[in-house]
Amino acid sequence: MDEVTEISEDDKTFITPYLPSGAIRDDDAANERPFVTLTYACSMDSMISLSPGVRTTLSGPKTKSMTHYLRSNHEAILVGVGTAIADDPSLTCRYPRGNAPTAIQPIILDPQLRWDVQSSKAVTLARKGESKAPWILHAESASPRCISDSAWEYIPVPDHVSTGVPASQSQSRLQWVSILRVLMQRDIKSVMIEGGATVINDLLLERKMIDSVIVTMAPTWLGEGGVAVSPSPIFKDGIRVNAACLKQTAWRQFGDDAVVCGRLV
Ligand SMILES: NC(=O)c1ccc[n+]([C@@H]2O[C@H](COP(=O)([O-])OP(=O)(O)OC[C@H]3O[C@@H](n4cnc5c(N)ncnc54)[C@H](OP(=O)(O)O)[C@@H]3O)[C@@H](O)[C@H]2O)c1
Repeated sequence: MDEVTEISEDDKTFITPYLPSGAIRDDDAANERPFVTLTYACSMDSMISLSPGVRTTLSGPKTKSMTHYLRSNHEAILVGVGTAIADDPSLTCRYPRGNAPTAIQPIILDPQLRWDVQSSKAVTLARKGESKAPWILHAESASPRCISDSAWEYIPVPDHVSTGVPASQSQSRLQWVSILRVLMQRDIKSVMIEGGATVINDLLLERKMIDSVIVTMAPTWLGEGGVAVSPSPIFKDGIRVNAACLKQTAWRQFGDDAVVCGRLV
């Protein structure tokens, strides 16, 4: 495992404008929601892993340290259940002189409760007191097979869509507004969403929910058959348009990798 080291003052200056500034009150929303940073590492062909379910290292040592610096500036990290199953991530912050690893809240988005909680690395670390107990966000309509424990907590998210039909009866997708509301109710004021592809592709189309996007690009091509970040096509007046764009961008080299920061247009 690469060592996580401190990043330079210049690197911090580059990242600072994109770091959380407290909870967000959207213009058209009555309630506050957490500041949301969407972040991932991809190849030159926009792939985040070699094939579905295969853990693929893309970040070099410097961007890995940058990611842990980012974690040290957020209250929670969220990944989808696909990533939890494929990568068995620790979801801790190991940034030196940052917050303790136990300061950041790991969160798994697992609407249908597919993740094998008890044998996971995140729960093992929580049992040893080396991280917070992960939260498992599931659809209200799904019932956990076991009860919450001191090493993990199941948290239901309302899955009723505006038609009043439980989402589980048509699809398992939860509304991001509901997910973020649940986090805010638990006093999470900033969350770093780290993947995987389904979560990222979904969120790139939810521009009002995302405050910063920070992407590491590794100088490699993973090739066909990889897992791609590529949101669903968007049409306006029947004409295909760009699915998502960044504004207020800043680019910087970290070792061999490039990092681009921006906000969704
Ligand atoms: N390079 C990187 O930075 C990076 C980072 C993370 C992961 N990865 C890679 O990404 C791959 C995993 O990606 P993935 O697309 O398979 O998995 P994923 O995005 O981690 O998880 C997808 C699952 O999360 C649930 N989900 C997503 N959006 C949801 C929503 N709005 N509401 C409710 N549930 C939602 C769904 O679960 P259900 O199907 O149960 O409904 C969905 O199938 C792995 O190979 C991993 O290594 C790479």
